[in-house]
Amino acid sequence: MNTLLFIGYALLHGRLAALEFLGRRSPGSGRLRIGARRAILLSTPELVEEVLVQRTDEFQKGPALRVYSRPLLGNGILSSEGETHRKHRRLVAPAFAHQRVSRYADVMSAMARQTCHAWPAGGVISMHREMTRLTLGIVGRTLFDADLLQDADAIGSRITELIRYATDQTRSFRPVPLEKDTPQNRRARESVEKLNQTIYGMIEQRRASAEDKGDLLSMLLLARDEEGGSLSDEQVRDEAMTLFVAGHETTANATTWSLYLLARNPDVQRALREQVRAAVGMRAITFADLPKLPLALEIFKESMRLYPPAYIVVREPLKDLEVGDGIKVKKGELIAMCEWVLHRDPRYFPDPLRFDPSRFSPENEPKIPRYAYFPFGGGRRICIGNQFALMEGQIILATVAQYCTLEMVGPKAVHGDPLMTLRPDGAVMMRVGSQQ
Ligand code: HEM
Repeated sequence: MNTLLFIGYALLHGRLAALEFLGRRSPGSGRLRIGARRAILLSTPELVEEVLVQRTDEFQKGPALRVYSRPLLGNGILSSEGETHRKHRRLVAPAFAHQRVSRYADVMSAMARQTCHAWPAGGVISMHREMTRLTLGIVGRTLFDADLLQDADAIGSRITELIRYATDQTRSFRPVPLEKDTPQNRRARESVEKLNQTIYGMIEQRRASAEDKGDLLSMLLLARDEEGGSLSDEQVRDEAMTLFVAGHETTANATTWSLYLLARNPDVQRALREQVRAAVGMRAITFADLPKLPLALEIFKESMRLYPPAYIVVREPLKDLEVGDGIKVKKGELIAMCEWVLHRDPRYFPDPLRFDPSRFSPENEPKIPRYAYFPFGGGRRICIGNQFALMEGQIILATVAQYCTLEMVGPKAVHGDPLMTLRPDGAVMMRVGSQQ
């Protein structure tokens, strides 16, 4: 399809609708533009698996992560390639080992309870703000042993500024280098400085205390490579910032979308509340309780089907090549694989717009074709925090349902704002109901 048609459709109906429109055509025939770059949409699970898993060495990440997120993420593992990526991923992996992630459950549970208890009974809250604060607090405490709750709003708005910057640059026909003096560049540079102060502050404090707290920050500071060399402060900063941002932005969106869907589906909300109260009463949820709370996890997964926080994954071939059955991709063109499109495809999810957590029940989930559902990407670059995120989502949803009911206030339908991640296009205002 002509890329102009995509641009026209996107202007009329929005970017997400245009991606869906492209995705329903024959696989590999969808042409779009990502800024000045031509791109091809691959819209079958087989093609996604081919690119992300089987032929991963033939591609690098697209410009949004590799180039335009650099002021924020530096050369951390989300944006780096090759040997640096391999070495550093191995370095941070122990922080995400199953045993360690299970120890994070108590922190997640305590912070979720603290958040709910601060909500005024009968009052109205912005759920997106609450979830951003909570998930930032959790990532700060679990990975950096830092209390970020007080500064959460300021940090959140700086990160939003930089995500907007990266999105605008990615979509621009003529990206403006960050050094150039424009109002957006000034704001972006200022935001990087402020966030650096927070991260370098944490690094300095930890170096001064010389304490091994066994968390991610200590792991980065104590790491030694094969030659005995340690990471520079800048490398520690890049990895810390990457995990700090990647570790809360997506989960803030995923939990907000989940609670939005619960507010719109009171029957499911009631069922969850009953399951949680029957299994654990009103006490804090622990890691051992999680198998007794399957509905919370099913709801979280189904919400990420309908509103995948990472709604598009982009790759760039290292040379001219062919994928699938003769789909030609030239060096310099991009490949887009879109969770938003595949997760809503009726071939894989009948009646796709219906919110139905039972799609992820133990009997049904194995029937979903591989890579028709891929909220965490796939292959070597699969999300390192996927287990962390699933547990966090399950604990937050169960805790909220245990504590109160939720009802939408104001505009009932919230739409997706497709920046680098899929954010809600407003504050998502909700009334906090019965706490009995
Ligand atoms: C619902 C929550 C989350 C979603 C939907 C999500 C999604 C993703 C996706 C799709 C990728 C792959 C991107 C690509 O291949 O281009 C990714 C990578 C990554 N994610 Fe997540 N993520 C989530 C939570 C987290 C958490 C909690 C952490 C850390 C605490 C995290 C850290 C990372 C990192 C470091 C990478 C880069 C991995 C690499 O390239 O080796 N994410 N995530």
